[in-house]
Amino acid sequence: MKQRNVLKKQESDVSLFSNELMALEAKYCSWGDTVHYVEKPTVFTRAQGCSLYDKEGIEYLDLQMWYSAVNFGYGNKRLNAALKKQLDTLPQLACQYLHEEKIRLAAKLAQRCELAFEEKGRVHFNVGGSAAVEDSLKLVRNYSGRSLVFAFMGGYHGRTLAASAITSSFRYRERFGHFGERALFVPFPYCFRCPYEQKKQVCDFYCLRQFEKLFETEYHAVVNKKNNACEFAAFYVEPIQGTGGYVIPPRGYFPKFKEILDRYGILLVDDEIQMGFMRTGKLWALEHFEVIPDIIVFGKALTNGLNPISGIWAKERLISPKVFPPGSTHATFSSNPLGTSVGLEVMRLIEESDFQASIPCKGSYFLCRLRALQKKYPYIGDVDGLGLALRVEMCHKDGVTPFKELVDAMVDIGLQARLSAGGKRRGLILDVGGYYKNVFTLAPSFYITEKEIDLSIELFEEAMRKALKNCS
Ligand SMILES: Cc1ncc(COP(=O)(O)O)c(C=O)c1O
Repeated sequence: MKQRNVLKKQESDVSLFSNELMALEAKYCSWGDTVHYVEKPTVFTRAQGCSLYDKEGIEYLDLQMWYSAVNFGYGNKRLNAALKKQLDTLPQLACQYLHEEKIRLAAKLAQRCELAFEEKGRVHFNVGGSAAVEDSLKLVRNYSGRSLVFAFMGGYHGRTLAASAITSSFRYRERFGHFGERALFVPFPYCFRCPYEQKKQVCDFYCLRQFEKLFETEYHAVVNKKNNACEFAAFYVEPIQGTGGYVIPPRGYFPKFKEILDRYGILLVDDEIQMGFMRTGKLWALEHFEVIPDIIVFGKALTNGLNPISGIWAKERLISPKVFPPGSTHATFSSNPLGTSVGLEVMRLIEESDFQASIPCKGSYFLCRLRALQKKYPYIGDVDGLGLALRVEMCHKDGVTPFKELVDAMVDIGLQARLSAGGKRRGLILDVGGYYKNVFTLAPSFYITEKEIDLSIELFEEAMRKALKNCS
């Protein structure tokens, strides 16, 4: 009796705590971010390994890890220790002065790029992904003297003004005036939903032939056929589309694509903000696709979600001090020592671990289990993955019509911890992407175990069954 009363009191304390916080949130927090995409946001109080916890101590298995910013797990001891050590030595330093970690991190990244792409280059740091995208746009403009760029339909490059201009969704621009330098958006090779309704096995890259046609005559508004000058300076690419739904292009696409770019002197800018730092089993996702980028943009997992830093790597001819002199760009927190010390430790961790082998191995086990689930449920229209970047596209019974309501219901069930696999109340953190917002984009921790993958499948299936009761 006494114990039941204690439990009741604890429950009512938690509920008071949540009610009070949510009342404050409703009154004082801007709702302009993405928190209120769901009806009932959850307040989390702790994070460890692959899981988040709420005030009641309920565990939520996280299959998105802060959109791939926490690749190395929550509370990673080695990375946290690097941060704590820096906190006790040189925690703050204006970025106009030098510190060792910044130099060593830039050197490691540049050397790693040289190894992968046989190109010498330099690294420039910033804070968030979109800010680094903006810096890359400056490099492109500075080098080419032109400001128009291509980008892919379904692409996402951030939400600052310039990054929104090259991000495909009009929704992100709609209320913010004129975007003079809006990218020209070209269809991505999204074979499950081919924009040209072709069949992957026999299309022979029909989409690339359509892209190539843009350059056939000056009247397609891209190129001057008299001197071959292109009005577009660069093409912004996510090798695997992130927000677009973890769409993986077919083998052979990128080399042919790059041939077209090279013909017209168009730079290839590789946005690795979401797929970089081993998500796909290689440091950069583009390394799977046999082309060399001119610029790489990175962020997110470089600091495992601790003090943020982002940045760009560019070929020497684009970023040498001669062409990109001191003061070309600047941000107060750009190479903050807490961030660079963690970034350096992340690079060392990558060098010393066997991620190159373990990530594809875990990824193929996860994919296998998802494919088995797909055989049981017609509502799973497509499943695919590269390394630990996995997609599950939810559809109606016909296997193709997007089933967004099902996805939304599953997200809510997971976030409200209405699951009970293993005999205890649990939550599941799922992120949604895709052109029709019907794709689960799974980005689990690199340290996820086979047992946790099994649990993920169990929870996913339970969420789907529960959601289907209300949706079908
Ligand atoms: C591919 C890609 N580019 C750019 C960004 C923008 O980065 P940030 O949100 O840090 O500004 C993101 C963020 O999700 C991303 O996934």
